[in-house]
Amino acid sequence: MKKRVFSGIQPSGHLHIGNYLGSIRNWVRDLDSRDNIFCVVDQHAITVDYDPSELRANVRELVGLYLACGLDPDKCNLFVQSHIPEHTELAWLLTCVTPMGWLERMTQFKDKVGSKRERVGTGLFTYPTLMAADILLYQSHEVPVGDDQKQHVELTRDIAERFNHKFGEVFVVPEPVIPEVGARIMGFDDPTVKMSKSAEGQHHSVALLDDLKKARKTIMRAVTDSGRDIVFDPERAGLYNLLSVYQALTGQSRDEIATHFEGKGYGDLKKEVAEAVIAEIEPIQARYRELTADPSHIDGVLAQSVANLRPIVDQTMDAVRRAMGHR
Ligand code: TYM
Repeated sequence: MKKRVFSGIQPSGHLHIGNYLGSIRNWVRDLDSRDNIFCVVDQHAITVDYDPSELRANVRELVGLYLACGLDPDKCNLFVQSHIPEHTELAWLLTCVTPMGWLERMTQFKDKVGSKRERVGTGLFTYPTLMAADILLYQSHEVPVGDDQKQHVELTRDIAERFNHKFGEVFVVPEPVIPEVGARIMGFDDPTVKMSKSAEGQHHSVALLDDLKKARKTIMRAVTDSGRDIVFDPERAGLYNLLSVYQALTGQSRDEIATHFEGKGYGDLKKEVAEAVIAEIEPIQARYRELTADPSHIDGVLAQSVANLRPIVDQTMDAVRRAMGHR
């Protein structure tokens, strides 16, 4: 039996090279060895202020990118979260077994809420229980994500264990799977902050659908330091970030990379990183244009996955409702 994998991305901006290296690329690599479920988590994207028509467009774009990046619909189920209403039903049920203290410890909430605590929607706080519902609904074994989501998957484990302890063994307890390279790509304009879809700066990230000239410019302008030698040193955040992108894309070892760049300067490194990024995203862009030319194909893929997933959803929800005394 293949292990079941579940993961998702928020349609809350344009997918960037950090998202790609931290998540989607690894899903594509392991397609054949897993039973795969990938979701566009549109109900997570409404936990902060948003524009409904923009959300609709972002969902379409992200589904198109899933396919263009190589998530072959013959090898995975690929759907939009809000098309399966049980995600929110299960999220409510899990909210009732999740202590406030557990949610208060979530670093992403603390980062996002800042000084606006009294004004943000409650959904931003309970968001990790919706994420737990996404994962547990499908009895998933593995959750391949970037480093920033590890704490949420660990919380999901705690929620599953608590539920199983209180109500009987209903859920598989999932494992986070974090890539060795590329799990935390930093902003090109500021290597001390994580690359993010919502950051403002024009040269913060490279989006998969960015104009290639702009992508190159962003990398050539990447913030580094005044050093010269090209070595993997986490203290030199900008350099380390560029080398990590290069390592993730080329698959070379750190030693090979250090030897390759011996005697070369930051300008050469940036040029080669830009080449590697463009070589990766150019074909994705071409496939994206082809695929999105036929929206009915994409609608068909989404509907088929929802139909495929229905029996798993019904089975889990039946067990949950019985265990909790609703049936
Ligand atoms: P999201 O949409 O912020 O990010 C999607 C994926 O990209 C990874 N990622 C990164 N990896 C490397 N470097 C970065 N700078 C970087 N930024 C983001 C994330 O770790 C993630 O894997 N809550 C989730 C979405 C979600 C989910 C789920 C994931 C909802 N339900 C169930 C897995 C399972 C999120 O906001 O990811």
